[in-house]
Order: sequence, then C-alpha cells, then structure tokens
Amino acid sequence: MPSNRIEVNYTPNEDFHLLTNYLFSTHFIFTIMRQQILLFVVIILTFGCKDHETSDMSLPKYVEETHSYAQPNIAVIKHLELNLDVDFETETIEGIANYEISAENASEIVLDSKYLDIVKVTSDGVDTEFELGPFDQQLGQALRIKISEATKHITIHYKTTAQTEALQWLDPQQTADKTHPFLFTQGQAILTRTWIPIQDSPQIRITYNATVKVPSNLLAVMSAENPKNKSADGSYYFKMKQPISPYLIALAVGNLEYQAVSERTGVYAEKSMIEKAHAEFNDMEKMVIAAENLYGTYDWEQFDVIVLPPSFPFGGMENPRLTFATPTVIAGDKSLTSLIAHELAHSWSGNLVTNATWNDFWLNEGFTVYFETRIMEALYGKDRANMIALIGRQDLEDEIEGFKGEPEMTKLKLDLTNKNPDDGMNSIAYDKGYLFLRTLEEAVGRDKFDSFLKTYFKTNAFSTITTEGFIDYLNVHLLEPNAVEFNVDAWVYQPGIPKNQAIIVSDRFKNVENTLQDFISKKFVEVAKTKDWTTQEWVHFIRNFPDSITIADLKRFDVAFDFTNATNSHIAMVWYEQAINHDYHEGNVDQNIEDFLIRVGRRWYVSTLFKAYKRNGKVDEALAIYEKSRDNYHSVTVNTIDALLDYKK
Ligand code: BES
Ligand code: ZN
Repeated sequence: MPSNRIEVNYTPNEDFHLLTNYLFSTHFIFTIMRQQILLFVVIILTFGCKDHETSDMSLPKYVEETHSYAQPNIAVIKHLELNLDVDFETETIEGIANYEISAENASEIVLDSKYLDIVKVTSDGVDTEFELGPFDQQLGQALRIKISEATKHITIHYKTTAQTEALQWLDPQQTADKTHPFLFTQGQAILTRTWIPIQDSPQIRITYNATVKVPSNLLAVMSAENPKNKSADGSYYFKMKQPISPYLIALAVGNLEYQAVSERTGVYAEKSMIEKAHAEFNDMEKMVIAAENLYGTYDWEQFDVIVLPPSFPFGGMENPRLTFATPTVIAGDKSLTSLIAHELAHSWSGNLVTNATWNDFWLNEGFTVYFETRIMEALYGKDRANMIALIGRQDLEDEIEGFKGEPEMTKLKLDLTNKNPDDGMNSIAYDKGYLFLRTLEEAVGRDKFDSFLKTYFKTNAFSTITTEGFIDYLNVHLLEPNAVEFNVDAWVYQPGIPKNQAIIVSDRFKNVENTLQDFISKKFVEVAKTKDWTTQEWVHFIRNFPDSITIADLKRFDVAFDFTNATNSHIAMVWYEQAINHDYHEGNVDQNIEDFLIRVGRRWYVSTLFKAYKRNGKVDEALAIYEKSRDNYHSVTVNTIDALLDYKK
C-alpha cells in the first residue's frame, strides 16, 4: 500500500453494521453462545476493517503542499456546520462556520482565508484570539486561531466581500429566464477560501451540514442532499454525510426547478431550460449504470446536474451529488453529453480518490477522461468514443506546441509552486493523462486494466493519492504481477509524448479528412456526402482546414452548412476560431463572434477565441470585444483573459 495514502474514518459500505446487527438479533442469539459472537466480532474488527483502520485520535499523514497555509499535521478540521445568509442586495454572504476539529498538542489551528471579512472567532463558545497573516495574491491569508488542548470546536463569524473570487452574482438579464437574480460558487482549485474560511487543501476531507437563507422566491442547492422544491421562507437545510475535499463545497441559488430522470438522477434548471435540459440528459441513469458496471458502485446516492447561466466558467464541475454544467452543453441532440459522463466519472476519480496536491491534478483529470471515454463507449459504441479521444489527441498536440518554450509544463506531474494551480489546468493533465492510461490498457489488456482500476478506486475510496503513491500502486498491483515492462517514469516525469503511445484510429475521421480534401480540390461541396455526420465529425472537419484555405472555400462551406449560425456551441466555437485565423468576415460572423463572447463565459471557449485573435496579431480587436464581455465573466475567466491580453483595467 502506498505510504502517502491519506485515510479517513468513513466506510460507505454498511455490510459490517448489518452483520453486527444480525449477530445480536434474537434469532442468532438462540443459535450460538454470546461469548462466541463477541469473539467473532473481535476477529472481524481486527481483520475485516483493515482498509479503514483509523481512529479520530490520530492525525493522518499529509504531504507537503504549497497551495494552502493549513498545517493539518498539527490541527485539522473534521466537520463543518455552516450557517449562511445570502443577500442579493449587497451581494454578500454572511456566514457562521462552526468546525469540529482534531488536534495534537496544538496551540493554534491554521485555516485559509482570502478576501473575507473575519468578524469574530470563538473556541468552544468563548471568544478566542485570531490573526490574519500577510496577504498573498494567489493564496490569500493564513487565519491563525488560538486553541487549547481541550478545544473541540471553533466558530468563525465572517462576511464575503466584493473581491470574492468563488462567487458570481448575476443580474436577471444574465440568466436564461431573465426574471430573477442568480448566484453560483466555484471552489476548484483554491477559491473555496474566498467564500468560506477553511483548510483549503484537497488532502482535507470533511462532512458538512448547512443552513442557508435566501430570498423566498429562490431555490438553493448545494453539493449535498438537496431540496426539490422551494421552501415557503427561503430557508434550506443541507447535509453532506460523505467526507469531501473543500474544493467540492458548492452552492447555487436561483429560480430553479427540478425534473427527475430516474430515481437517483435528475436536472435542475430555470423554467425556460428545464425541458431541454431534461431531454438532453435523459441518458443519465444509463451512464451511472455503465459507470458502476465498469468501476464499482456509485457511492454518492444521488447524481443530479444543474444547468447554470452561460457565464459559468467551465463546461462542467463535478460537485458531489450535483454536477454544475454550462448551458452550452445543450445542443438539442445529446451530441455534447460526454461532458456529463466526464463529471459523473469524477465521482470515482477525483471525488472518491482525490489528487493529494494540485501538482497531481492529472490523477483527477486524466483518469476521468479515460473513464468518460469508457462510459461513452459503453453507451454509444467505439466509433463515438474514438472520435472523442481523437479530438482530445489534437488538443494535446496543440497544447504541446503552445508549450514549446516551457517543456516542463508538458509533464504529467507538475511543480506549481508559486503558480496558480489553474496553470496546470490544460490538455496535458486531461489528454496526455488519458493517452498514458489508454497506452497502459493496451499493454496489459482491457480485462486486467479494468479489474486493476476497480480495485484502485475501492482501496483508495475517500482518500487522497499522490502521483508517487499511484505509481507504487500501479507497480505492485498491475505491472509486477503481470510481468509487464512499462516506461511509467517517461510518461509521468518527462515532457512530451513517449514513443510507445497508443495509436487511436477512426475510420469516420479518415473519411472526414478525405471529404475535406475533395471539397477543396474540386472547389465544390457535395452536401450528400456529409448527411450522417455527427458533431464530432463536423468539429474535426472544421479544425482540419489547411493553412492555405481561401475565403472562397470558407464561403462555400458556410453557404452549404451555415457554420456561422451554428447552434451547436462546439461547432460554432471551432468555426469562429477559423474565421479569426483566416480573416473571414462574411455575413454576420463578426457579430456572432462578439455576441458569443459576450454571452458565454466558458473559459475554454472564450480563451480559444481570444488566443486566436492574439496569435493572428489582432489584440486590438480582442480588447474591443473584451471591454464589452469582461463584466459578464466569472473571476476565473477574467484572470485568464486579463493575463492573455495583458489587460489593464
Ligand atoms: N474539474 C474540472 C473543472 C476544473 C478544473 C475547475 C480545474 C477548476 C480547476 C471539470 O471536471 C472539467 O474537467 N471540466 C471540463 C469539461 C470536460 C468535459 C473536459 C471543462 O470545463 O471544460
Ligand atoms: Zn474534469
């Protein structure tokens, strides 16, 4: 077992309790002597629970990390009781955070806090001293709270401020229905500390309960057990009984409705979106079943998706029990729902087995892309899965090209000391991570790889793992027993892509490439040849225009396929990118690009387009649009685009 595995005291599996209940039931008592039962129980306690043998008394081991001030080796939070008052008038949350803590000879407990107004701190109900350390642009401040040997609970009274980076407060015009305001949070990677003072490291695991007060015409939902209807007075109570890392605490407040897809899956959305969202995501239960068949039971009971307003900075965010999603995933034909498979997969890779530090981020995302692709294969077949994988393969190629001057950024294991963890959120973690796992799968065979992964998730459930811990585990449980030689170190610690990479092939994509060449060389578009094409084929078609493509070619395509007015967000985005690359200004394309950039805040889309302007020497055009769109973006998108365009307010 890897030495740097962090264990917590939670077993989702209730078999043990069922067994003890049975052993003490009258029926059983009559059949066997009590003493023997006790002996049996002792044996089970000693050997049966080996996997989770921690006690609350001892503090687990934590690995060094540079993105949190917390010192959990000395004093650590265990459970959070939150009391929040959400005020849309002042755009602030007033909070009381009560923590159950565990400490060993500690005189203080250190939390992370950024842009928070800390009003008062008590320890077991009595005012206690606290101190906020120097402010760091990335990390915020250390919040040092005095405790004694006997301290069991600390309570922090605080308020969020206008600078908060996690929260985005939206006016009604920024929502789908345009009638009510909206609020959502984004915690990953290190933003939870801007709305809750907390030990904001992925190595921390806590359970939480929350009481949240919102205006009575709005519904509040969290990464927890959720209400399905509005309450009369705007008060909601939440319970998250499985321990999660702080970056997964999430809240959304809006005029939301719920529609179930199955008993354990469903969607939250605004009224004008709910039917569309429900239709788009109606394979959710099938996805959960496929995922369980692959890598073991879904341990979070409920899997819902909330469709957020279009400024949401990500495609999706795997908040436990309630994935947050961009509305741009709703294409009307389920063609972009691999994103839901992706966030679902995080219920294992990420939420159950969590990267110990942000340098190990590829463990969250690479595994998730692999798992996502397997879910898509199970539901829709190999063709679709391989097309998705090949789109990622091309993203990876582009990313490596973009890091030409910084090859160390193309390693899976990163060193993000003094950097924002966001810098590691790119195609390397996702698509190189995927390619590594796919190559491994091909080396050992799918059956062995699947049973390895299944055991990996089960053994490490509700704990944290480092890259080194994973490599140890891989060697001991997969490579050595099967006598497989594999260049793991090259994949993980070297830049670029090793030579033994799996080669992904798609006949459909080959056909797309041939068709594209044919259309260009004949200066003629045969629409019939494309009639069965899927979104993935269109994306591939557009992304593979040769550098020499002419305005006349582009116009011919646009007339035939109306790319400029595409309603599929992915197709629109890659077409706009080509329009920028090739100075294509026909019809309403310029207006559509501007409207898209103003309405949509999804960072991947927005940054792809602004990067295209920059690459093509059109920073002024980009800045003219950015002046109009910036206010609509969440802070994570703002930070990325400010840096990209060197924007000064
Ligand atoms: N967990 C990520 C989003 C994230 C990563 C937020 C790092 C903050 C820091 C999420 O699961 C994700 O990967 N989203 C992707 C979609 C996916 C289909 C690749 C996205 O938002 O584009
Ligand atoms: Zn992800």
